[in-house]
This record gives sequence, C-alpha cells and structure tokens, in this order.
Amino acid sequence: MHPLWTVAEAVAATGGRPEGLSDGPLHSVSIDSREIGPEALFVAIKGDKLDGHDYVRAALDAGAAAAIVSEAWFATNRSDRVIVVPDTLEALRLMAKAARLRSKAMFVAVTGSAGKTTTKEAIRTVLGAAGETHYSIKSFNNHWGVPLMLARMPREAQFGVFEIGMNHAGEITPLTRLVRPHVVVITTVAAAHLEFFKSVSEIAEAKAEIFLGVEEGGTAVLNADHPYLHILFAKARESGIRKVITYGYDEEADWRIGEPELAGARTFARVTHGNDTLDLNLQVRGRHMVANATAALAVAALAGVDRYAAQRELADFGAPEGRGETTRLGPADKPLVLIDESYNANVASMNAAMEVFAGIHPPGGKKLLVLGDMLELGPQGAELHQSLSKAVLGTGATQVFLVGRAIESLAEVLGDDRVTAKAWRVEDVMEPILSSLALGDAVMIKGSKGVRLALLIEAIKRRFAATT
Ligand SMILES: Nc1ncnc2c1ncn2[C@@H]1O[C@H](COP(=O)(O)OP(=O)(O)O)[C@@H](O)[C@H]1O
Ligand SMILES: [Mg+2]
Repeated sequence: MHPLWTVAEAVAATGGRPEGLSDGPLHSVSIDSREIGPEALFVAIKGDKLDGHDYVRAALDAGAAAAIVSEAWFATNRSDRVIVVPDTLEALRLMAKAARLRSKAMFVAVTGSAGKTTTKEAIRTVLGAAGETHYSIKSFNNHWGVPLMLARMPREAQFGVFEIGMNHAGEITPLTRLVRPHVVVITTVAAAHLEFFKSVSEIAEAKAEIFLGVEEGGTAVLNADHPYLHILFAKARESGIRKVITYGYDEEADWRIGEPELAGARTFARVTHGNDTLDLNLQVRGRHMVANATAALAVAALAGVDRYAAQRELADFGAPEGRGETTRLGPADKPLVLIDESYNANVASMNAAMEVFAGIHPPGGKKLLVLGDMLELGPQGAELHQSLSKAVLGTGATQVFLVGRAIESLAEVLGDDRVTAKAWRVEDVMEPILSSLALGDAVMIKGSKGVRLALLIEAIKRRFAATT
C-alpha cells in the first residue's frame, strides 16, 4: 500500500521549498497540532482566532514528519523538516487539487440549507457497502475544511463524499471546482444565513453554484420538496448538466417517498423509483431524515450499488450527534425521552424537528419544548422566529422554554401564558427546566449551536442518568 502522500509528492503538489527535509511517507494531513498521527504532514493555517504557525514546533515534536509553513514565518523562525510556501492555505488547496487529479474515484458533493451532514453520512454509509469510501468528517465544509478533506483522500478510495457549505454568495464556487464532483446533491433550500442574502431565491442561486464544478456527464440529485426547485433546475441546465434526478414527497419526484410511519425511535417508509419499490427502515425519526436517506438511495443507484445492499446499510443509520438523537434516561419502563437537536437550527430544521416532536406521546408524562435562537437570519429574523408559532402549537408541548434574544419575538406571538420561562442565556433557564422535568416526560431541545443548548443536554443527562 502506498502512503497517503510522500514528502516528494507534497513538495511537487505545492511547489514549495523543502528545508532540512528528506523524502519519506506522510500518513495523514492535519491542521491541528493536538491531533498529529505518526508521520503526519502538518499544515500551518491561519484561522480566525489562532495561527497554526504558533504550533509548528508542537506538531513536529508530536511526531509530524513535515510541516508546511509560510515564507514569512520561515524568515524569522527557521526550522528543519518544513516545506516553505508563499501561502499555506493555497498550498493546502494545491494538495487537494493533486489528490483529486490522481484519484479515479466517483466524487459526490452535498450542499443545502439543512441536512448536509446527515445526507453526507447516509451517502457514505451506502457507498461504503460497495467500496472504500472517503468522506468529510463532521461539518468540515468551508474554505479550509473542503481542501483539508480532499487532501486526505486516499489514492485507492473508490468513492469520495464531501460536504460543501456557505454563508455568502460565491463561497461554493471555488470549493465545487476543487472537488469536481460527478454527482451533486442539494438537500433543501430554505431561510438560513439570510443576514447575507436579500431573499431565499438568492440562497437557491448560491446553492446552485455547486453545479459549476460538476464533471462533464455529471448528475444533479435534487430534493423536490421546496418552492425553489425550478431555480435549481434552470441553473443546472445553464451549467450544462443534462441529468437531473429528484427525490422527495412530491408526486413527481423520481424517487418518491410514501407517507412515513413513525414507530418508536424508527421510521419506516416506502420509496418508489420507476417500477421498483424499496422499503426503508431507519433508526432515525422524521420525514426529513427519510428524505436524506432517499437521497443516498438515489446516489447509490448512480454508483451502481446493489439496492438491497443500500437498503440494508441504511437500517443501522442513525442521526449524527445533536441532530435528533434520542436518548432514554432512567428506568426502561418510565424513561425520560430526550431529543437532542442542539447542533443547529434554521426555519427548515426547526419545522422538521417540531413535526417529529408532534408525533411523540409520552404516556402520562409532560412534553417540554426548549427552543433557542436561529442565528444569522438578519433583518427578517423576528418574522422568521414568529413563523414558528404554528409548529410550536402543533407539537402539543405542555411547556415551552425559550433561550436567546432573537427568539423573544416568538414569545410575543405565543403569548406569555404559553411560555413557561425564557432567558437570554442558557445558564439562566437551566434550573427551571431541570426542576420541571420528571421521568416519563419527553423533552426536545433545539437551537443554533451558538446558543449553547448542548450545556443543557449535558446537565439533563447528568441529572437523569443518576436516576437509573
Ligand atoms: N432534509 C432536512 N430538512 C430539514 N431539516 C433537516 C433535514 N435534514 C436534517 N435536518 C435537521 O437540520 C439540522 C442540521 O442537520 P445537519 O444534517 O447537520 O445539516 P447541515 O449539515 O446542513 O447543518 C438537524 O437538526 C436536523 O435534524
Ligand atoms: Mg453540516
């Protein structure tokens, strides 16, 4: 087996200047000095808060075989075992480009307003059944995350699955041109990051940038259940993509999902594709999760994966952390059901999650709903938070807690008698929530990551794990 890279290859790919460095294998690529593996390549990237150059020494001491550093740093610091380049982020991009060039894999790129990570995970799960699959970890989907994930692509991998995200128009273009996907998936288009856009149509156009990198003869796989599909269709055509496949609950979708059945922590649904029907049995809750899994079925078919194998792989597919994970705390006959949606929130995912919560009926217990701010919504924020009121009432929650400043506008429309407690900081609702909760209850917690609702999840787990 070849190593991931060799020093000579890294030098050639980046056009850098090796200093005190001889050729040898590089088994991983990292930008974090705390996670250096044996014979790693450390790339010193300047982030928002930290500069990787301050950790070059630590990375080399931790066992990195080489580090990519800037001319500016080298001029004052000097070091052996480095590759000196004008710009380290550009060097990482060049490595990504070289990794893409040498690979014979099928490349898949996933974007969308919600569901990117879950869909990416579902896709890599089904492709993993057919061959070595490399994929983005977590949500490494931005200007450094995508190149880093691509630079880590093993040369032998048969499939590569990459998440691509954005906050502003223009951000997806260079990333999709780097990945050069054969298949792109757009999970949905909805109000997110509206701070930086005039309208959701503009968001649709920004997502459509993903088509610009698609390889000749490539395919677009589009979720059909949103009002912006026509924009995506038009943009796909404009970008020269001839094959567009749709999936969703829409009657005209190529991969059409029948009404799902929720049973405990699982969801069943029948998917129809031409004359074929497939039965999905997932370890996740909710219509949106079924849609994400269906996207994976469509991609699997494009990759030539046996459909029964794909179906089987998805049976064990669970929600990634903080995206609807359900935990039962306490005694089996009377648990506290905790639904952790603390990772993220925008209008689409709030509505999807509340629809799931509406279907949960704790026998004899209360239903508590804890909602935090949806961040980055810009001037329409108040209105968008208020738009959640119908879904909140639809959940049948017996108690509602609100956390954050922006979500106060929702309190105004719900009315004070419907809101049990609210606070700007999660620390200030922790106690009222913990003292309201009892075994037999169900609680769902959802908000943008910045609201730090994960702290509440941890506190609930600590308190109720002790009651078993
Ligand atoms: N297709 C979907 N439509 C709406 N919401 C979704 C969808 N898929 C997942 N979600 C919800 O969106 C949130 C973020 O999911 P995730 O898969 O991490 O998306 P992203 O990577 O786009 O942020 C989670 O709370 C999840 O439950
Ligand atoms: Mg993500």
